[in-house]
Amino acid sequence: MENISPASITDNLETHFIGQTVIYYPSLTSTMGVAKREAQRGAAEGTIIIADEQVAGRGRVKRTWLSPRGNIALSIILYPSVVYLPSLIMLASLAVVYSIEAVTGLKPQLKWPNDVLINGRKVCGILIENSVRGNRVDYAIIGIGINANFRLADFPELSPIATSLSDELGRELPRLNLIRRLLVEAERLYLALPSGESIYRQWQDRLVTLGRRVKVRWGKTICEGMAESVAEDGSLLLRRSDGSLTKIVAGDVILRDYV
Ligand code: BTN
Repeated sequence: MENISPASITDNLETHFIGQTVIYYPSLTSTMGVAKREAQRGAAEGTIIIADEQVAGRGRVKRTWLSPRGNIALSIILYPSVVYLPSLIMLASLAVVYSIEAVTGLKPQLKWPNDVLINGRKVCGILIENSVRGNRVDYAIIGIGINANFRLADFPELSPIATSLSDELGRELPRLNLIRRLLVEAERLYLALPSGESIYRQWQDRLVTLGRRVKVRWGKTICEGMAESVAEDGSLLLRRSDGSLTKIVAGDVILRDYV
């Protein structure tokens, strides 16, 4: 498996700040914890924390995230204006989609709110954590976990819902190209945020969730309906059978034909 040392990531990397400082660990609990500590200490914007293996990877809603060697697990530290916080999930999802497309030729899709799928199965999860005081963002951390070289045959309980790039391609994937491309795409999209609504449109266009009958679960609540559209703040608009429209800010979608 190829080396992902800091120098191999930063060498001639075509970004101004994302990925220009790399903190690398062969093995770590979670890149999110280290990123939070580094952000609180004032790390440079764009600093990334990357681990070859996480032993306590974190998923959304307190789930665990499996992150064995061969996968990609990284966190990016940013200090955006508060108005851009809702766009970070769109930015991260699109950066993953565009970089996977460019490096592998595979065609990923997005499932609201933040899963990247290939052929209907999850290949990447994204976790955003931030600290905001009033109107001031102390920091925002984008955590990205990509099933790169992950043999699903080793985790049969996951195979109905998850896939990996190596399983889809039928060969191992050199991770370095993908990581570097991901950083370039993330910075390009981040710098384009002040230019307006284009990121929202690109994200909306990639969502396989829209136009389908779905169940959405948040906490103990489950709601069923037609996923009609997404709002610019990233929330999902669900048309219920009584004709009413429900706005869902956070939740998990079950796409009915996948389950
Ligand atoms: C999810 O789909 O539930 C989100 C998964 C996010 C996983 C990534 S891997 C890098 C970063 N470190 C973590 O502990 N979690 C995120």
